[in-house]
Amino acid sequence: MERSLDWVEGAVHAVDQRALPGEYRIVALTTVDQVIEAIKTLSIRGAPAIGAAGALAVALAARRHGGDHAAVRADAARIAAARPTAVNLAWAVRRVLGSLADGPAAVLDAALALLTEDEQVNRRMATRAADEVLALSGRDRLRVLTHCNTGRLATVAWGTALGALRELAQRGRLESVLAGETRPLLQGARLTAWELAEAGIPHRICVDSASSAAIAAGLVDCVLIGADRITAEGDVANKIGSYPLALAAARAGIPFVVVAPESTVDETISDGASIVIEQRAAAEVTSFAGQPVAPAGTAAYNPAFDVTPRDLVTAVVTERRTLRPALGHGIPAAAARLHRRGWLDGTAGNLSVLVPGGRALITASGRSKGELSASDLVAVRAETGAPVGEWGRPSAEVSIHAALYRAFPNCGAVVHAHPPHATLVATQAGPGSVRFGDFEIVKGFGPRGAGPFVLPVLANHPDVPRIAADLAALCTPDSPPALLIDRHGATTWGPDLETAHNRMECLEMLCELHLRSTTTGGGQS
Ligand code: MRU
Repeated sequence: MERSLDWVEGAVHAVDQRALPGEYRIVALTTVDQVIEAIKTLSIRGAPAIGAAGALAVALAARRHGGDHAAVRADAARIAAARPTAVNLAWAVRRVLGSLADGPAAVLDAALALLTEDEQVNRRMATRAADEVLALSGRDRLRVLTHCNTGRLATVAWGTALGALRELAQRGRLESVLAGETRPLLQGARLTAWELAEAGIPHRICVDSASSAAIAAGLVDCVLIGADRITAEGDVANKIGSYPLALAAARAGIPFVVVAPESTVDETISDGASIVIEQRAAAEVTSFAGQPVAPAGTAAYNPAFDVTPRDLVTAVVTERRTLRPALGHGIPAAAARLHRRGWLDGTAGNLSVLVPGGRALITASGRSKGELSASDLVAVRAETGAPVGEWGRPSAEVSIHAALYRAFPNCGAVVHAHPPHATLVATQAGPGSVRFGDFEIVKGFGPRGAGPFVLPVLANHPDVPRIAADLAALCTPDSPPALLIDRHGATTWGPDLETAHNRMECLEMLCELHLRSTTTGGGQS
């Protein structure tokens, strides 16, 4: 695929992104100032593309200043400051400056290597992102909403989020794309529509303010965007208008997936509030195609980017890892709370949450629940527990979770832990059931009919699917949302993780009351 920018006979050649879609024009830039100007005016734009341009500009500076390293470094500082939000620019400048001591040719080699790498990592992340969104959405052919331009123009070649769209299209798994026009500079309408047409991908553009309505109307299976800076905790700075898409996606329960290279992850920042957001000229908003659209002198609020907080980001896919900043739908936080209680010692216990497309996210096998991150979760088919994609090995007790998702249509989350009183009650009772006294706390399990509160105690077979089979045979739609496993622990479930977790707390308290109120630990039937 043709590169959007390259080094040709001593000059930086780049597609002039301001001229598209009217004209496909290549500009030749021979000075550092010209490259800086091209970046500032968005002739060259998109985080990876400005990184690559910045690297080539340092090569221009090194050729110009030769052994005067101070002069090269001064130019490099100006290049890195051309736009503040996309971390790729400063990252690329820093990286090629590392070759300064070896002379201008080495600096150019470092810059060219960076360009080649960009093309390669884009293809890798696009493949990984396509796998991810297919796994998350569970649909055969996807309807994807994207924002701004994340394609070959925004990178050296192929693209990030738009690269993933190319990959989905090649696999025959992309139904259509809705591209937000991306006010005020229309990167979506001008550039993304142009690239999607070039690639033969079915698409429509929509005004930015129609995107959330499209999501709410069920016209979108997944939002797929790029990024300009991603913090260590997964807050994502991207083109203004990304955050409202994340809110709409969360409300609709569809995945909001970010595709970006590792060079966009800024490990030095954890909180998105520390990201410097570029403010651009009012004229970009108060005029359109050179014509004023607001009264002369009107002030404008024109931030180029916004920050989507981590809890709205379903996944960040890079060329080598998948981060799940949305805290795995609350699983790491809930696991940490249970771990602090001492109910998930070592790697014990497992938690899962139902996600769109008939999938569940479950804790991976063998992970300490005290330091779980969203990347320690595995996607499985909710009703079978079979892993989806290559996310790793799910909890060894996944079949119990699957049996619960099968048995209870309103089961949205499952918690399995080893609280001491519940484990003791299960052990004293043995396989069968436990009948509890009429303690007020049973209300914590939700509405129930008259009669005693009885929980099943499953036999603890080493063969976990056998426990799951016993469970399936035992459950009726009226079963309370909790069970005990002989010499093992307790499992609770509910429509969401918070409810399932609260029920585990209730169960433990109920078991403590039960033990204190019976001399024999009885009530066993
Ligand atoms: O102001 P722009 O057009 O440079 O902003 C670009 C974006 O916000 C892109 O979404 C981002 O850089 C990712 S490009 C692969």
